[in-house]
Amino acid sequence: MMRLGLLASGRGSNVEAILEAIREGRLDAAAAVLVCDRPDAAVVEIAVRFGVPVELLPRAGLPTRAAQQARVAEVLAAHRVDVVALAGWSSILDPIVVDPFERRILNIHPSLLPAFAGSMSPEPQAAAIRAGIAVSGCTVHLVTREVDAGPILAQVEVPVLPGDTVESLSARILAEEHRLYPRVLQSVAEGRIRLDDGVFNVT
Ligand code: GRF
Repeated sequence: MMRLGLLASGRGSNVEAILEAIREGRLDAAAAVLVCDRPDAAVVEIAVRFGVPVELLPRAGLPTRAAQQARVAEVLAAHRVDVVALAGWSSILDPIVVDPFERRILNIHPSLLPAFAGSMSPEPQAAAIRAGIAVSGCTVHLVTREVDAGPILAQVEVPVLPGDTVESLSARILAEEHRLYPRVLQSVAEGRIRLDDGVFNVT
């Protein structure tokens, strides 16, 4: 059974969607741990409700940013995590976290990458509206040392409608995120991620 480590900092709706998928048997994984850097984040209660161990690692509780990152790496190892899913994790991860999980650390981003990379929700959604594009969406990608630039595993398109606000577009994208992320993680669990000519594909 794939042991999943969840890294989240906020509302936690993607974490909830993943944990529901596990509970309903759509995702063959065990949630090994939620790592959260914001003790007051709503995602903490969600993990507790699902009986998932929580490790709180606020930056303020550790002497340096590097020490915090080292603790994240230690905690993932201590919980014997196989695959890491970032879901609204708010800081850039150092190589000490990313490198041991090469090709086994994923993120979800609320745009069709590479469009609107490099910023946190809701900025990509706001940028989509400002740009006047007709189609946006969400992307699940592998995390590498370069922010939002790892190989794309799957994308879903979402229309940007006339009169959309950041809130209405974000909600439409989020509904697709909740379907997409558990589905991609299940592909990972089944070993259905292929590397063809340097491009990853989820089959
Ligand atoms: C989502 O928009 C996700 O794409 C982005 O951060 C947001 C997290 O939302 N990475 P939630 O905490 O899962 O509700």
